[in-house]
Amino acid sequence: MGWCCCYKPTLLIIVFTFFISQPYAVKFSLPFIWPLPAKFAFGNETLSVDPTLSLIGSSANSPILKAGFDRFKGIVFSNGFVRTGKAVYNVNKLYVVVHNKSEELQLGVDESYNLLITKATGSGKMTIEANTVFGALRGLETLSQLCSFDYSTKTVQIYKAPWSIRDKPRFPFRGLMLDTSRHYFPVNVIKQIIESMSYAKLNVLHWHIIDEQSFPLEVPSYPNLWKGSYSEWERYTIEDAYEIVNFAKMRGINVMAEMDVPGHTKSWGIGYPDVWPSPSCKSPLDLSKESTFDVLSGIMTDMRKIFPFELFHLGGDEVNTDCWTNTSRVNKWLQNQNMTANDAYEYFVLKAQNIALSKNWTPVNWEETFNSFATKLHKKTIVHNWWSSGVCPKVVAKGLRCIFSNQRVWYLDHVDVPWDVVYNADPLEGIQEASEQKLVLGGEVCMWGEVADTSDVQQTIWPRAAAAAERLWSPTQYTTELTALSRLQYFRCLLNRRGVPAAPVTNFHARTPPTGPGSCFEQ
Ligand SMILES: *[C@@H]1O[C@H](CO)[C@@H](O)[C@H](O)[C@H]1NC(C)=O
Ligand SMILES: *[C@@H]1O[C@H](CO)[C@@H](O)[C@H](O)[C@H]1NC(C)=O
Ligand SMILES: *[C@@H]1O[C@H](CO)[C@@H](O)[C@H](O)[C@H]1NC(C)=O
Ligand SMILES: *[C@@H]1O[C@H](CO)[C@@H](O)[C@H](O)[C@H]1NC(C)=O
Repeated sequence: MGWCCCYKPTLLIIVFTFFISQPYAVKFSLPFIWPLPAKFAFGNETLSVDPTLSLIGSSANSPILKAGFDRFKGIVFSNGFVRTGKAVYNVNKLYVVVHNKSEELQLGVDESYNLLITKATGSGKMTIEANTVFGALRGLETLSQLCSFDYSTKTVQIYKAPWSIRDKPRFPFRGLMLDTSRHYFPVNVIKQIIESMSYAKLNVLHWHIIDEQSFPLEVPSYPNLWKGSYSEWERYTIEDAYEIVNFAKMRGINVMAEMDVPGHTKSWGIGYPDVWPSPSCKSPLDLSKESTFDVLSGIMTDMRKIFPFELFHLGGDEVNTDCWTNTSRVNKWLQNQNMTANDAYEYFVLKAQNIALSKNWTPVNWEETFNSFATKLHKKTIVHNWWSSGVCPKVVAKGLRCIFSNQRVWYLDHVDVPWDVVYNADPLEGIQEASEQKLVLGGEVCMWGEVADTSDVQQTIWPRAAAAAERLWSPTQYTTELTALSRLQYFRCLLNRRGVPAAPVTNFHARTPPTGPGSCFEQ
């Protein structure tokens, strides 16, 4: 009886200490996990991990989980040593429990997980419990960051055990945009970028495939479109695109494709000059011809087979309608339709939205569409902010959903934006109502490709994309911490150890090399 009565309150106090009194832990010893988990507690013991570590549990047969576990082992046991008879290991199994067997990856998929690492005398136990396999992958990532190689014993150790982590993302949409039109990125490079995204728990690759400068994607319905590529070797086959989507899915990352219409389309006319208003005035797309919309529809039909993600980006930014009004044939059409240039812009965007909707896609559009005809946009529209501040508050006030990418803070090609400006931005800025906050799906850092190619893209993305990743994943009461700099420096070195050429954190201009000799952890 005494045991019972003493024990219960103690347990309650422990739980209370673990999960309520976080500010203490935060203030004095944040763990080097990036992004920080929603809730965590740790102790002061050390566990060594057996290099023969095996995955067990009823979900161990999931190909996604198995592949994730193999990648985990490749990272954690990367020092190329074998199990020695001498070393003592505390833990040789990782239990993974996944409650929902569905492996469909969509917006809002449950990415939460619990990670428990305990140490009994001699042996330890590690468990990841998640609702989906994608939550389990996030747990594996966290676990990999808790494992470090000890150079004196030459074993992999977990410090500060026992660990108890209950984690889930703050936002469902945590994106990185990659522009493969201004410069072509080989498929392997895109895969490396996707792989690195998974280290920071980002979950959407926004693939800005096509733009005015080049059209690299194969479109079977309109096989001349990719004549608009820079060269025959700077193209993506259908198979490449499937491969990228599958590679991303294996890491819990969705691919949101973009077809930016009606502006940003000059390259389309290399293969099909009819889509230009005239050979001397090439964009926006000629809206006076029904055949233009057949091309749109053909591209979307082909892309729909490749991209299962429910969101599809229709662009709609920076539309200069001069070629419509100053090409006499198109201008005559506008007059016949009694349309101003702005009406025509609206007409085009809404028509493109309807094609996307008919293919069971949710349309995403850049903010100019909202700024020009907010009330006409389809109710399902997700507005993507980029140009100015304060857009998402207006969008959610109108009941539409929003993605935050304010260029002043989250454009990675703006190399003079330092890490802390990225870090201190918040997608919910200016939005108080909980019901409106829910309409902000999250945010995205944008890697426009005019001045980045394979030679420097990763250094331009990292480490600043990680600053945004923590903002999008972790509760804000942790992420305003002063210790963010040392933790981000640590994460930058972790990326480097994993082969990602992330640049020093504190250099004013992003992607510049170190200014002198020194430890990775101080640069
Ligand atoms: C480790 O934690 C235990 C239990 O909280 C405590 O009694 C012990 O003093 C700690 N040891 C160190 C070295 O901090
Ligand atoms: C399992 O996940 C699928 C896909 O996300 C969802 O439709 C289904 O409702 C989930 N099942 C349970 C029991 O939560
Ligand atoms: C039509 O507009 C385009 C884009 O602004 C411009 O480059 C072109 O010179 C104009 N053509 C004529 C005939 O005014
Ligand atoms: C043309 O549009 C204007 C403004 O929307 C409208 O007032 C006018 O009645 C329209 N004319 C015709 C012929 O549809």
